[in-house]
Amino acid sequence: ATARVPPPKEEFGDLVAALPRKEQFLDGRFYQGFWLPEHYTPGVIAFQRRFTPRPDDMVLVSYPKCGTTWLKALAFAVMTRAAYPAGDHPLLRLNPHDCIPFVEDVFTDGHEAKLDRLPSPRLINTHTPYPLLPEGVTGGGCKVVYICRDPKDMVVSLYHFLRRLQPDLSFADMFDSVTDGTVPYGPMWDHVLGYWHASLAHPDRVFFLKYEDLLQDAGEHVRALAEFMGRPFSPAEEAAGAVASVVELCSFDKMKDLEANKRGTAGTYKSMPRDAFFRKGVAGDWVSHMSPEMAARLDDIFRDKFGGTGLTI
Ligand code: A3P
Repeated sequence: ATARVPPPKEEFGDLVAALPRKEQFLDGRFYQGFWLPEHYTPGVIAFQRRFTPRPDDMVLVSYPKCGTTWLKALAFAVMTRAAYPAGDHPLLRLNPHDCIPFVEDVFTDGHEAKLDRLPSPRLINTHTPYPLLPEGVTGGGCKVVYICRDPKDMVVSLYHFLRRLQPDLSFADMFDSVTDGTVPYGPMWDHVLGYWHASLAHPDRVFFLKYEDLLQDAGEHVRALAEFMGRPFSPAEEAAGAVASVVELCSFDKMKDLEANKRGTAGTYKSMPRDAFFRKGVAGDWVSHMSPEMAARLDDIFRDKFGGTGLTI
């Protein structure tokens, strides 16, 4: 008989209860340098301690509200492009979050056996900070793709997202949590820098993307992503416009209007309405939400933190 694996909430309950706590729009626990959402903390710890990657796994990581949905759609479309006839792709029927499991939900709910049952190559998704990833992953056991975004647009996006559940949310409180680092999965600069440095040290294993770059030239980055994933577009595919097809299938305008992305909820934690993952899909919407002073403050903080790393915002 196989030993029963206790649910993370039970197994790591005492550990989590002893961590520093912050009550806010999403209550946080400070674990190994990062403010994890309290609800997901046992799940992240379980992932960190229990997950063993397969060599052809692809872990898609994002800072929340920085392009997770887009990256999941693009990676899934790249990976599965040969398997479906044009016009009959699962992304036309399913929300990207229903195509690729979210580690935090899987582990928090004690459903990790689901990951074992997935056929290879597996695509899995998390917001886990780099230093908290399972050793098997950081040790080179599989590949990682990361996406980040201008923190000003991240905070605006996060505000609108969480307002769907908490209509009286304060933008000022959320802004402050970004600046003091207590925002969920924060400090954001440390989250981004962890993956930035890993991508410089191991470019063959860690691929770093920016939301704004994708907006500017999705095709170029989809090509590079496919190459990184070991599934480069062949000359015949190039000639047939396969890159443009992937970009079009995953484009904001296309996805936003699909029935699968308008109805129902995704994820188990608080069950977000699926349409909440598709709001504006642009860069620079921060101008309508913060004063030039606030913007300058955020820019200064990140410029300072990123100083000398080669990373710009
Ligand atoms: P906005 O709120 O600025 O519109 P995440 O997927 O990490 O939760 O991030 C959500 C943000 O990505 C939202 O930003 C959302 O509109 C945008 N987004 C979702 N799907 C997208 C797509 N296919 N193309 C471009 N942006 C997308």
